Amino acid sequence: MRKFLILTTAVLALNACSGGSTSTDTPIVITPINTAPVVASANPDQTATTGAAIDYDATQGGTTFTDADGDTLTYTVAYAPDSNGLTDTNGTISGTLTDAETTTITITANDGNGGSASDAFTITTSAATIDQDAIQAQFAGRIDLENMDNYANQAVPNYINKLNEGGNPVTDGGATLGRVLFYDVALSIDDTVSCASCHIQTHAFSDPALVSEGVQNGQTGRHSMRLINTQFADEDNFFWDERAASHEAQETQPLQDNNEHGFSGLNGRPNFDDLVAKLEALEYYQEFFTFVFGDANITEERLQLALAQFSKSIFSFDSEFDIGRAQVNNNGQNFPNYSDDENAGKQIFLDAPNQGGAGCQACHRAPEFDIRPGSDHNGIFNVAGSITEFDLTVTRSPSLRDLAGPDGTPNGPFMHDGSLDTLLDVVNHYDQIQAPDSEPPLTEFLDTIDNRLRPNGNLQNLNLTDNEKAQLVAFLETLTGSNVYTDEKWSDPFTAQ
Ligand code: HEC
Ligand code: HEC
Repeated sequence: MRKFLILTTAVLALNACSGGSTSTDTPIVITPINTAPVVASANPDQTATTGAAIDYDATQGGTTFTDADGDTLTYTVAYAPDSNGLTDTNGTISGTLTDAETTTITITANDGNGGSASDAFTITTSAATIDQDAIQAQFAGRIDLENMDNYANQAVPNYINKLNEGGNPVTDGGATLGRVLFYDVALSIDDTVSCASCHIQTHAFSDPALVSEGVQNGQTGRHSMRLINTQFADEDNFFWDERAASHEAQETQPLQDNNEHGFSGLNGRPNFDDLVAKLEALEYYQEFFTFVFGDANITEERLQLALAQFSKSIFSFDSEFDIGRAQVNNNGQNFPNYSDDENAGKQIFLDAPNQGGAGCQACHRAPEFDIRPGSDHNGIFNVAGSITEFDLTVTRSPSLRDLAGPDGTPNGPFMHDGSLDTLLDVVNHYDQIQAPDSEPPLTEFLDTIDNRLRPNGNLQNLNLTDNEKAQLVAFLETLTGSNVYTDEKWSDPFTAQ
C-alpha cells in the first residue's frame, strides 16, 4: 500500500497590489511517499565444514526485513569473494560448501518502488575432518581420502579435442568411490559378481570370454565392451545398440539385469531398493557417500554419477600412436616413430576406398577412434553364439584404442557377437563384407547396413592385398597403451597388489 500525502496549504497572497488579501485551502500536489524496507532481524554469522549441504532461508521466513508500507519484497543475494558452491532462490540459499574460506553473503530486499535494504552475514567454512575409519579398515594402504589418486587432472594430449563429460566431470572423490563400487561383489545378489567380473583391467576392461557370466550362471546376450577413453567421443548413447541415453544412464542397468548383478525383482529376486538398503548398511559406503555427496543416502543417481566418473577416468594415451601423433601436425603425416608398414597401414585406415584406402576413418575417427554418431550397422549380423538368431541393431563400437594388449594379444574376441578372434579377421570382414545366405535376415540386412559399406548398392569389396591387410593390422596394434593395464588407481581396491 502506498500512502498519498495530500498537501493543502494556505496560500497567502502577499502582493498588496492585488486588491485585498484572501486565503484559500488549495490542494496543490499529490506525491507518493515510499518508505524503504529496513533490517529488522539481522542474519547471524554461521560456521560450517566443507562438503556440508546448506539450505538456509536468509529472509528468515520474511522477518529479516520489514517494510513500513507493506510493500512486497523481492530478494537478491551476492557472495564474496565467491559463491563457494552456493546458489539462491527467493532469498533461500542452498548448495554444498566446497572450500574452507569465509563467505560474506549479502541479501538485499527490494520493495519495487526504489527502496532497498541489505543485510550481510558470513558463513565461515572450515575443512571437514574426514571420517574414514571404516574405509581405512577395509582399504588401508590403497585408499586414503586425504590423499587420493589423481583422476580429475590427468594429462590429455593437445590433439585430443573431443571431451564429452555429459555434465558429470570426473572428480577424485567421485572416481574413488566409483572404483570401490566397480570392484565390489556386494553389488550382486549373491556376492559373486562385480562390474570387474566382465570388465577386466588386464583386458582393457573387457572380457576374453565370448559372452560374460553374471550371477548364478546368467549370461550376457552380447560380448563385453572395452571401457577405454569413453568420455573422448561425440556419441552420447551407450551399449552396442545405443539403448542407454548417456553414460550415467548406462551405469546402473547391469545392476538391475537379471543375468548380470541380479537386482531385477524378477522371480523372487531382490530389486534395486534392496541393493540400496544393502549398500547403505555398509559402513565404508556411509563414509564414502558422506564424503562425496554430503550425506550417507544412496540413490540410483549417486551410483550412476560415481560409477560413470570411474569409467570415464580410464584414460589410455601412451600408445605408439600418441608418441607419433605428438610429433606431427595431423593424423595424415608420416609418424617418425612408425615403421614403413605402420605408416602405410595408417594411410589405409585414413583413406577412403575410392582413394585406395579402407575407409575406416569414416566411422572410427582418429585420433580418438570414437564411433561416428549416426553410423549404421557394419555387416555383423549374428547373435553371439547363434547362427539362427540375428541382431541388426548394433551401431556403436568402443574406441578402437587398445584392441590388443601390450604383448599383442587381442583384447577380443571382437564385435558384439564376439565372432572375430583376431585383427586380421576384422580386416577380412571389411575387405569383403558377407551377406547372410538367406531370408531372413537378408533383405533387412541390406536395407540397414551403413551405406558407406554398400557403395553403389554392392557390398564393400576392397580387394586389399595380403601385404596391405598386414599393414592395416600393424597400424591397429600401435593404438595400444601400457599404463592403463597396470595403473593401481584402476585396480581392485579390495585386494593388496
Ligand atoms: C556379467 C557381465 C557384466 C557385468 C557384471 C557388467 N557389465 Fe558392463 N557390459 C557387459 C556387456 C556384455 C556389455 C555390452 C552389452 C550390450 O551392449 O548389450 C557391457 C557394456 C557396458 C558399458 C557400455 C560401454 C560403451 O561403450 O557403450 C559400460 C559403460 C559398462 N558396461 C559398465 C559397467 C559397469 C559400471 C558395471 C557394474 C555396475 C558393469 N558394466 C557390469 C558386461 C557386463
Ligand atoms: C560404416 C561405419 C564403419 C566403418 C566404415 C568401419 N567400421 Fe568398424 N565398426 C563399426 C560398427 C558399427 C562396429 C560395431 C559392430 C558390431 O559389433 O556389430 C564396428 C566394430 C569394429 C571393431 C570391433 C570393436 C570391438 O570392440 O569389438 C573393429 C576392430 C573395427 N570395427 C575396425 C574397423 C576397421 C579396421 C575398419 C576399416 C577397415 C572399420 N572398422 C570400418 C562401424 C564401422
